[in-house]
Amino acid sequence: MTQIKKRTTASTLLADKQAQRKQVWLTAYDTPTAALAEMAGVDVILVGDSLGMVSLGFDSTIPVTLEHMIHHTAAVVRGRDKAWVVCDLPFGSYQASPEQAFASAAQVLQQTGCDAVKIEGGQHMAATIAFLSERGIAVVAHLGLTPQSVKKFGGFKRQGQSDEAADIIFQDAQAVSNAGAVAVVLECIPDDLAARISAAIEIPSIGIGAGKDCDGQVLVWHDLLGLSEKNPPFAPAYTNLRESITTAIGQWCDDVRAGKQP
Ligand code: KIV
Repeated sequence: MTQIKKRTTASTLLADKQAQRKQVWLTAYDTPTAALAEMAGVDVILVGDSLGMVSLGFDSTIPVTLEHMIHHTAAVVRGRDKAWVVCDLPFGSYQASPEQAFASAAQVLQQTGCDAVKIEGGQHMAATIAFLSERGIAVVAHLGLTPQSVKKFGGFKRQGQSDEAADIIFQDAQAVSNAGAVAVVLECIPDDLAARISAAIEIPSIGIGAGKDCDGQVLVWHDLLGLSEKNPPFAPAYTNLRESITTAIGQWCDDVRAGKQP
């Protein structure tokens, strides 16, 4: 287990890219899981708006609010020591204008103590990324399968499959990098496209379902630990906590009903 020694910062992320050190990002949504992720050695904890799907019972990330994100990100910050904490700005809290994005990001940073915000979108969000970055906010961009656009995509589908679609994502990556994003998440795009983007931009690319040539990888807590009912095809489960948990609870139920507990 590799433990991180120094606090991760935006500068660490860029230095890692230059030194070709792979970054490890993992989602977490509360204090104890943030502490466990950090003990296990992750560099960055992402409080993803996947929160809505893995913890709050929604069928997409669309219903997640700024209040949900602030509540859970503040809990994660209380559990971290050295990991960098990124909070997703939820649907509807940043798309209307750079000013709206600034107001939401400021609220998140002030009320949670996290280090950065993540927003979905490429060329059309570049002006917003520049606006936030010029005002001192660390911004992570998110391209490819951007879950807040699931209704437009018609489902959680792999993106960038045609040459034309791949070119747009490539240009999106250059646009967010030039606008001042400190990293970019590439979700569910062809491996060769992610490799081309990673070689072309100066900021780290963090892949999920985007192949091994990204500068780092991110996974959702529930997928990695076998807590999800069904993992996406690109997300490996390293253990089966669903089984361990239901077995343990089932044994306790049996023991109570048999009068063996307490
Ligand atoms: O919301 C989330 O967990 C994410 C990751 C899948 C990258 O954005």
